[in-house]
Amino acid sequence: MTASRRGMSSQRQIWMAPPARFELALPPPEGGALSPELRGRAISVPKPVRAERNVPAWHAAPGPSVFLDVISHVRELIGQRTGGPRLAQFRDVTHTHVAGSIHADSTARAPSWLTRPSNVNALLGSLWSSGVAKDENGVLTVAGLSVTEIANQVGTPVYVVDEADLRTRARAFAEAFAGWDVYYAAKSFLCTTVARWVTEEGLGIDVCTGGELAVVQRAGVDLRRVGLHGNNKSVEELTYALTAGVGRIILDSFDEIDRLSALAERLQIRPRVMIRATTGVEAHTHEYIATAHEDQKFGFSIAGGSAAAALLTCHENAWLDLIGIHSHIGSQIFDAEGFEVAARRTLRLHADFAAETGVELGEMDLGGGFGIAYTSADSPSTPAALSEDLRAIIDQECSALGIAVPHLSIEPGRAISGPSTFALYRVGTVKPVALDGGASRLYVAVDGGMSDNIRTALYAAEYSATVASRLSTAPPVLARVVGKHCEGGDILVRDEFLPADIAADDLLAVPASGAYSRSMASNYNHVPRPPVIAVRDGQISTLIRRETIEDLLALDAG
Ligand SMILES: Cc1ncc(COP(=O)(O)O)c(C=O)c1O
Repeated sequence: MTASRRGMSSQRQIWMAPPARFELALPPPEGGALSPELRGRAISVPKPVRAERNVPAWHAAPGPSVFLDVISHVRELIGQRTGGPRLAQFRDVTHTHVAGSIHADSTARAPSWLTRPSNVNALLGSLWSSGVAKDENGVLTVAGLSVTEIANQVGTPVYVVDEADLRTRARAFAEAFAGWDVYYAAKSFLCTTVARWVTEEGLGIDVCTGGELAVVQRAGVDLRRVGLHGNNKSVEELTYALTAGVGRIILDSFDEIDRLSALAERLQIRPRVMIRATTGVEAHTHEYIATAHEDQKFGFSIAGGSAAAALLTCHENAWLDLIGIHSHIGSQIFDAEGFEVAARRTLRLHADFAAETGVELGEMDLGGGFGIAYTSADSPSTPAALSEDLRAIIDQECSALGIAVPHLSIEPGRAISGPSTFALYRVGTVKPVALDGGASRLYVAVDGGMSDNIRTALYAAEYSATVASRLSTAPPVLARVVGKHCEGGDILVRDEFLPADIAADDLLAVPASGAYSRSMASNYNHVPRPPVIAVRDGQISTLIRRETIEDLLALDAG
């Protein structure tokens, strides 16, 4: 952008997406005062905000007016019905972005949640699997094996699963939720070995396509312990589920109810079904992973009455064995209130159905979505604490409604597969980039990218990273880890302090990469997908082998 364009202004698209944060400033423009504890309080943007704004052409920052677009959320947060707080300067905002030729953050400094580490070599224990440590040379080890050895044996990029850690997390859910059914959400990461591990630890599995079902079947899992989800299951997938003997099918639309009952009659198989209810809960997470507010594709609305209608339709259909209601409010959720409101609404639907039909349904599923730590800003709950909270909510609500507690189930995915795994990359190029105000950011490019982890680009997800192959005595600098793809949004770790001397050939590890990374991987730019290996007692086993260019060329029919 040249200086000659200074002073011009143009209409530009501005957006802010979670986890963008800003702070409340005093006083509110219309007078009155916010209580002292709200002063400077950080507010997260609840969902992406888009706006057209007149901004100076040279300016990468949106200016304070854009904040008005999220003001109603702020009012709700501070319990203020009218008026609105004035928000702080845009320098307090992270992750704002003006579409167009300027692609820079509006702020040169680190986001407020990211603190400069006193020791850039240190690991933050909450982000890593229990078997991970650094040795005296600063080399990352997992279950007794160094990442340099892993990189020598299998190359990079690679996903490294700490088997004992994943099993322990699965077992912790089974134990904490004893008496309930725990279904591992296969979409977070699935391969035959992991399907076996989680079932050995006492879990069932929830799948959402015929492909996931095929993996689970190949793993030899008892399919009565498997549930099939999905908002648009094909005739082939439903037929597969019926004939394979899947334990329950979660129905998502009236089309699907008709489709399944016709198939069931033709095949003379009466499936156990649940209705997916949309509870209208606004989970405070990214819009694309919040799934129970009304304006999205999943489920039957409780508020709109279609959930009650769907229950009655299934109840009256001789070919469907209606067992209960299912709800899932979203992912990466930390506060129990969302689950509480959802459970309350779902139980009321359950009670209303009982009052109308005289039938108390036997089961209820509360879904998954339990948050994990990707950065120092995240403090997730434990399965034991979650269980205590959810049991208390259900008991209280059932006794208030005068109904029996149904047989309950949950579907954690990320909380089991996510923290047990890190992604290991090799640094290729390092580039300091000058930012406004004399600051700079170090761009560290690695040998993977958005094709092996799309979450940063898709949800503005945050990650952390550490240099994994050596100690550094250099000071920490604000860095951004990017991939090798031909895309400006090819970012893996948006903000992290890395040692200033990070250089080509260093190994870089990104923790909490087990969920929705490999499972959402693509072949963008014809980049083969990385392998997934497990380490146990110092030994490597391959869960998914590395894809090759030959694999990709084999698909090309020309
Ligand atoms: C129906 C359902 N259950 C469970 C999950 C698992 O969520 P998480 O991996 O966040 O626990 C999902 C995730 O999208 C889902 O859609």
